[in-house]
Order: sequence, then C-alpha cells, then structure tokens
Amino acid sequence: MEEYFNDARKRIIEQAKDKDVLLLISGGVDSAVVAALLLKSLNPEKVHLMYINTGLMRKNESTEIEYNLKKLGAKNLHLVDASWQFLNALKGVSDPETKRKIIGDLFITVQQEEVAKLGIPHNALLAQGTIYADLVESGKGEGKKAHVKSHHNVKSPLVEEKRQKGEIIEPLDKLYKDGVRELGKLLGLGPEIIGRHPFPGPGLAVRILGEVTEEKCNILREADYIYISELKKRGLYDKIWQAFSILLPVKSVGVDGAGERRYGQVLALRAITSRDGMTADVFPMDMKDLLEISSLITSSVPAIGRVVYDVSNKPPATIEWE
Ligand code: XMP
Repeated sequence: MEEYFNDARKRIIEQAKDKDVLLLISGGVDSAVVAALLLKSLNPEKVHLMYINTGLMRKNESTEIEYNLKKLGAKNLHLVDASWQFLNALKGVSDPETKRKIIGDLFITVQQEEVAKLGIPHNALLAQGTIYADLVESGKGEGKKAHVKSHHNVKSPLVEEKRQKGEIIEPLDKLYKDGVRELGKLLGLGPEIIGRHPFPGPGLAVRILGEVTEEKCNILREADYIYISELKKRGLYDKIWQAFSILLPVKSVGVDGAGERRYGQVLALRAITSRDGMTADVFPMDMKDLLEISSLITSSVPAIGRVVYDVSNKPPATIEWE
C-alpha cells in the first residue's frame, strides 16, 4: 500500500504540475481518501474541494463532511446547498435510470455554475474517487462485465470529455474498496471515515422507490438514522459491508395504540457482506436485533407502519433496490 501511495502521489504531481485540482466530495470513503491524497501531494491552496448537498444525503451527513475535511487540512472548501434544485428536478420522476441521469447531469451543471462563480481556472483538473468496481460495473475499464447500472460518476459527458483531454485524476482506479480503506488508514484518516459503508452518488433518490419528495427524504433519513445508530450501538456496523433502509412505494394497513386503523408506509432494511460490492451475501442478522430495531423505528417514525428485512443475495438481486 505504501508503494501504491508513492506511485499515486508521483502520478498526481506529474499530472497536476502547477494546475489547480477540483475534487467533488461525496461524503463517502473514496472521495475522502482522494482528498487526503491530493492534500498530501499538492499545495493545499491548489486543491479545491467541492461538496454539493443534493438534499438526498443522510441525517447530519453534510455537517460531518465539513468537519472531516477541515480536519484533513483543506484550505479551499466549497459547500454548496443545491437541495431545492435536485428535489425540483426529480419531481414526478419514478424511473431509476432517469433519476440517476437527472441527478448526474444536474451535478455537473451545479458544479460548472459553482466553478464559474469561484473563478477556478478552466484548465483545472478534475479528480474523482472512482474505484475499480465502479469502472467494471459501468462497463468501462476492463469492460468484461455487463453494464449493470449507470453510475453517474463515470458516465457523465463532462467527465468523459475531461478524461479524453487527460484532465482527470482517478488515483483509486486500481483499488477495490478494502484497498481504499487500507490506503485511507495509511494516510491517517480516522476510523469513522474509513469504516463508513459505501453510499451511492444518487443518494436517497435510489432508496426511495418511485417518486422522490422532500417529505419522503425526511422519513427515510429519520428511519435510517435509527437503523444505522442501532447497528453501531450493537457492535454490528463494522461486521456489515453496507447497511441502509429503503422506503417502499406501498402503504399497508396497521392499527395505532388506540386500536384505530391506519395506513403506514413500508420500510425495508438491508444489510449485506461483500468484498467489493460486485457480489453480496445477506448479513444474517439476529432476530432479536431485528425485532428491537423494527419497534424503535415504528415507534419513532409515525409514517412507517411496517418494517421488513431484505433476504436477497447479489446475484440475483442488486445491493440497492433501484
Ligand atoms: P448495486 O446496487 O449495483 O450496487 O449492486 C453496488 C454498489 O454500488 C453502489 N451504487 C452506486 N454508487 N452511483 C454510485 O456512486 C450509483 O448510481 C450507484 N448505484 C449503486 C451501491 O451502493 C453498492 O455499494
């Protein structure tokens, strides 16, 4: 890993020369490791870290990201709140790939607008936290695997253009997730960043099945926060590769404490083990934990009337539901 770090550092210095480098921060471990790599390789004044809040992030995520980047020694940190733009653009859209495309394109538009506002030079390089699995799953890179989903970070036209012009830096493109974590550790990133489960670029939009609304985002954020906090409290979070909740587009019948009939939404919980996300096994959660977590969720989030646990491996299912 030390060799990988030295190599990556050399590549970054050679490629960047005296140019500015822009990195979009997603909040996940990949872009955090790239941020640390850039800050350790280049003059931090030349490194622009941009975080776009899409409104599709998890509870407290944006504040945690800001805190962690400052800790890394970021000098140019641009935090953009574009929540309303994303939620507006997603109005009435249910198709998963359309959601991904809208989010990916808007990401680039917002990024371009913000770069223009900040006066970051046009020839600035674009750094990305693309890892090996992203390239394979998007049908790029080795190109041996079927195209599964369009991951917006490798499919956008602007990124492709930057790639062709050689204006892109992707220092993690030879690593699997466990390699990224090892590298992060070597760079001195804290366990709370290194141990973070992966989070998809389109965020909660692909975990709210059907149309995305602010209200649904809030419901999912609250429920998912309880789920993830409980996994951490119970010492399960680090045994799981990825855990999250999905808000289903169905309502089911229930009763409240007074015996009144009501309709509540259905929440699915997912937890899987994996090496790289390309295949995954269901995490065999204890029934006791599931029952307790389910009760906590339904008693704290009134909109949710029923909780189910996803018991499907990948294949045949994918990790995300959309
Ligand atoms: P799937 O659902 O394809 O997920 O089995 C494999 C891994 O990729 C993540 N994922 C995404 N990441 N943009 C991303 O950046 C996306 O559109 C996207 N879709 C899935 C997923 O969370 C899992 O870790």
